[in-house]
Amino acid sequence: MLSEQTKARFDREVAKYPAEQKQSAVMACLSIIQQERGWVSPESEREVADYLGMPAIAVHEVVTFYNMYNQQPVGRYKLNVCTNLPCVLRNGQQALQHLCEKLGVENGGTTADGLFTVQQCECLGACADAPVMLVNDRQMLSYMGPDKLDELVDTLKAQAK
Ligand code: FES
Repeated sequence: MLSEQTKARFDREVAKYPAEQKQSAVMACLSIIQQERGWVSPESEREVADYLGMPAIAVHEVVTFYNMYNQQPVGRYKLNVCTNLPCVLRNGQQALQHLCEKLGVENGGTTADGLFTVQQCECLGACADAPVMLVNDRQMLSYMGPDKLDELVDTLKAQAK
């Protein structure tokens, strides 16, 4: 159930658009849900749909189109590695594989301690810096070769203590 605080945050987003176009706030509302709950469950999709007066399937289409929305719970650190062509030509796939092997997970998997989720992602718009990755949808990192990946994992583990 949406809390009053969440509804107030939704209202601020809805207010940015004409009254008859409140569906335009769908991405922002989904983003708020993800910030508060860590992921967007089917139930959350329905809550957003009800709130914005739109079909649940239309909300689901948004969630499944943009891969920054988490469709299942993720670890404390979500590590997205770009595997689009320019990155793959400069070891993007190896970067993904290196992280998966280091953390003992499959692509899309979460470590048993709940600390890390590793997954491939679409182009992050910094192809010249390949391999590129994104931590928790916010921090972009460039030139992520094996040494830098190891350093990142060690730093994040230390931060988590
Ligand atoms: Fe990886 Fe563009 S292809 S950032």
